[in-house]
Amino acid sequence: MDPVTSILLSGLLQILYIQTVLCDGCLKFAGSCCIQCNAGYFLPKKCGPCIPCPSKGYNERPTDRPYCDHCRRCEGIFLYKERCTSTSNAVCTCIPGKVCVDEKCTQCKSDRCQAGQQLQGQKCVDCPVGTFNTGAEHRCIPWKNCTAHGGVVIANGNRTSDVVCKEYLIKVTQSPSPPSAVSAVTTKTDRNN
Ligand SMILES: *[C@@H]1O[C@H](CO)[C@@H](O)[C@H](O)[C@H]1NC(C)=O
Ligand SMILES: *[C@@H]1O[C@H](CO)[C@@H](O)[C@H](O)[C@H]1NC(C)=O
Repeated sequence: MDPVTSILLSGLLQILYIQTVLCDGCLKFAGSCCIQCNAGYFLPKKCGPCIPCPSKGYNERPTDRPYCDHCRRCEGIFLYKERCTSTSNAVCTCIPGKVCVDEKCTQCKSDRCQAGQQLQGQKCVDCPVGTFNTGAEHRCIPWKNCTAHGGVVIANGNRTSDVVCKEYLIKVTQSPSPPSAVSAVTTKTDRNN
């Protein structure tokens, strides 16, 4: 092997070595220097090599930065929705009973709204007409239907409280007319007391 070929060959081998072994995470070379790493790697010093991000770091995009971004930690009121990988940050969600306040889940809030409301997406909105929430439920519940149960409304419902029914004991008393049924209820109540 003549000296020129030998030098060329060793130079080529050196570049191959750098490109395959030292910089397997390298995306762009400038001569034998790595100047940009693939996502999931970082470039600790100019010219390479590219090093994979450590377990608590990630780089989402190809980079020439000498560091990785820190993975988000989902702790306390947060739970992991997606774990961190070398190319993507962790995604958090909230513990049961709480919901994220925004898309990125930067904070959690109770999944219950104040009385008269329910969650719609991430916002509390008024209960639709015909439903109520005392504040104890996660969602608005339809008012009772008094007539469907053989009764009448004695107090209207609103967004925070249910309709109040007075039920006639039609089946018990076989009474065809409501007023006498009411007296039957009264009598029954009295007897029970
Ligand atoms: C209550 O029930 C009755 C009988 O099932 C029905 O005809 C009526 O539409 C209902 N009313 C409401 C407000 O749902
Ligand atoms: C809803 O009804 C309850 C019981 O009748 C009453 O105490 C409350 O003030 C009402 N709320 C509204 C917003 O009308």
